Amino acid sequence: MTPPDDRLVQAVPGDDDVQYEAGLRPRSLGDYIGQDRVRDNLQVSISAAKGRQEALDHVLLYGPPGLGKTTLAYVIANEMGVPIRSTSGPVIEKPGDLAAMLTNLQPHEVIFIDEIHRMSPAIEEILYPALEDYELDIMIGQGPSARSVKVPLQPFTLIGATTRAGLLTAPLRARFGIVHRLDFYGQLDIEEIVRRSARILGVEIEPEAATELARRSRGTPRIVNRLLRRVRDYAQVRADGRLTDEVVRAALRMLEVDDHGFDEVDRRLLRTIIDKFGGGPVGVNSLAAAINEERDAIEDMYEPFLIQAGFLDRTPRGRVATPRAYEYFGLEAPGKGSLW
Ligand code: ADE
Repeated sequence: MTPPDDRLVQAVPGDDDVQYEAGLRPRSLGDYIGQDRVRDNLQVSISAAKGRQEALDHVLLYGPPGLGKTTLAYVIANEMGVPIRSTSGPVIEKPGDLAAMLTNLQPHEVIFIDEIHRMSPAIEEILYPALEDYELDIMIGQGPSARSVKVPLQPFTLIGATTRAGLLTAPLRARFGIVHRLDFYGQLDIEEIVRRSARILGVEIEPEAATELARRSRGTPRIVNRLLRRVRDYAQVRADGRLTDEVVRAALRMLEVDDHGFDEVDRRLLRTIIDKFGGGPVGVNSLAAAINEERDAIEDMYEPFLIQAGFLDRTPRGRVATPRAYEYFGLEAPGKGSLW
């Protein structure tokens, strides 16, 4: 998946998000805002594991990009009081890379694998005994004299993150004892996050301004933090640096972030379903071809929020634009006002 990197309301991290996010990231569960159910459950699992002086069970976090899966992995390691090592599925190329990592662990250490659905089958094979019995099966030699040697590992915790839990193989999924889905954040949680970020950055923000930024951030912390950064630039250059409601609205107008946080791709996607496919249903492959985007990008990045916000429906026969989508474009939804 190669996401466009110029989308202001894009949930995948851009190059300049990474460093910026590091400073804003909550470090403990107490600082972590939202995702209450996940937080409460993790708090219990972590306390229990610490009480027994065991490694935390392996954790799978899934959900749309930008909702804090990586952040949560670091919070978990911090709460457990253990180091964390971070990598991602496509980066682990050779079985030896993973074996080197696993044989070097401190007791109870966390290994974080982002995009875990993109790990190769050969790597997965190595992981199974490591996850289940904390040991590696290593083949030595080739041909008739080949034999397998078991290498014991320190007890550790794997935290896997994915935008698509459905793409994980069943045996891998079965090895996670703790599985949580992260959802889009509610308006009030995002407001609290943006107020916290503003405080950390030392920027003054009016309550109405925080509300407005949150409203246009697709329920996604990464997006609200990015908008905050852009709006802060605007306030510094065009005003007195304070984020008033007026300044924030003017900045967002200049940045062309619309009322719902939609951008050009969201609008093109909805408009194409309405104009070219009679409102749907349309299969995701046809839709991808029509708007010249990758199917994965539609499923991972664009669709989840449009569905959550009630602009798009996913039906067994394909994607359908909802009456709300028609309304958004000032159009009359089919069926409405007709004799039928
Ligand atoms: N920054 C990004 N995500 C956050 C969260 N869930 N809580 C607090 N600050 C955040």
